[in-house]
Amino acid sequence: AWAAAVGRRQVLLAEPRAFCAGVERAIEVVERALEIYGAPVYVRKQIVHNAHVVADLASRGAIFVEELDEVPGGSTVVFSAHGVAPAVWDQAGERGLSVIDATCPLVEKVHTEARRFTARGDTVLLIGHSGHEEVDGTLGEAPGRITLVESSADVGSLDVPDPERVTYLMQTTLALDEAAEVVDALTERFPAIVGPGSTDICYATSNRQNAVRKVAEEAQLVLVVGSANSANSVRLVEVSRRDGVEAHLVGDVGDVHLSWLAGVDTIGISAGASAPPSLVNELLTALSGLGATDVSVRSVGTETLAFHLPKELRRPAPAPV
Ligand code: F3S
Repeated sequence: AWAAAVGRRQVLLAEPRAFCAGVERAIEVVERALEIYGAPVYVRKQIVHNAHVVADLASRGAIFVEELDEVPGGSTVVFSAHGVAPAVWDQAGERGLSVIDATCPLVEKVHTEARRFTARGDTVLLIGHSGHEEVDGTLGEAPGRITLVESSADVGSLDVPDPERVTYLMQTTLALDEAAEVVDALTERFPAIVGPGSTDICYATSNRQNAVRKVAEEAQLVLVVGSANSANSVRLVEVSRRDGVEAHLVGDVGDVHLSWLAGVDTIGISAGASAPPSLVNELLTALSGLGATDVSVRSVGTETLAFHLPKELRRPAPAPV
C-alpha cells in the first residue's frame, strides 16, 4: 500500500474549514477560566466535539464531566458550546455552582426561538438528530411541546393539535440539502407552517458544506478532519459522498489508510468546525512526505465573524494613557 500511495498529487483545500467562531470562543472560555480561577475548571460535556481539543484542555487542568452531580458543590462549571436545557441551569443553581456559559450564540438563537414560539402556543417541530447534545438542550426549552423530526420519513406520522399553528426550527449543523427536503415535506403536510426568522443552520456549517462540495467536484478522494461525534464534520463526509466522491472522516493523520490514496491524484481536504487547523497542517505534511504535492485552495469566501467572550471573562479595558 505504501508504494502505491507514493506519487505526485494535487491537494485541494476547502476554504473555509476547521474552527468556527463559536468553537474558538468556547475554547477561549475554558482557557480564560483556567487563567482567572486556576485549575481545576469543570466543564459539562466535551466543550466542543473534538478529542484533541478536549485532551489538550484536560492536560491544562480542565475536568470534563457528563453531568453536574459530578461537580463539587460551590465550584465553577463551564457549559459547552452545544447549549443546555433550562433544567441544567436549575440544577446548577440548586448545587450552588457558578456557571460560565460557552453556548454558541447561534445555538442560543435557536433556544430563544423555541421559547418564543412555544410561548405563543405553537407546536414546534425541531429538525435534528436524536441524541445530539444541542438537540437535547433545545428540546429541553419546552419539554413535551417540541417534537423532533429526524427525516422526511417522520413527517407523515406527526400528530399536531392545530395544523394552523406549527413552527419548525433546526439543529445548527444539519446538511443543507437534507434539511431542505424535510422542510419541503413539512410544508406539504402543514401549508401554514412557519420557519425561523433566518435559517438556523449556522454560517459555519453552510460555508464548510459549500466549500467541501467545491473540492468534491474535482477530487477523487475527500478527507475530512474531525471527530466521529462532531455532527458538522460527519455532514461534510456525507455531503461529499452524495456528490459521488469517496470520502472519509479522520480524527487525525493517524487515521488515514494508505490504501485510500492508491491511484488517487487529487485529494480534497476539509475539517469540521470543531477541528483544530493544526491537524489539517499535520495531514498536509504527511501527504507531502508521500510525494510532491501541489496544494491549492478552493474557496467559497472567507469568514471574519468573531463572538465576544461572556462578560465575566472579558479583560478589563486598558487604562487610558
Ligand atoms: Fe456555533 Fe455553528 Fe460553530 S452553531 S459553534 S458557529 S458550528
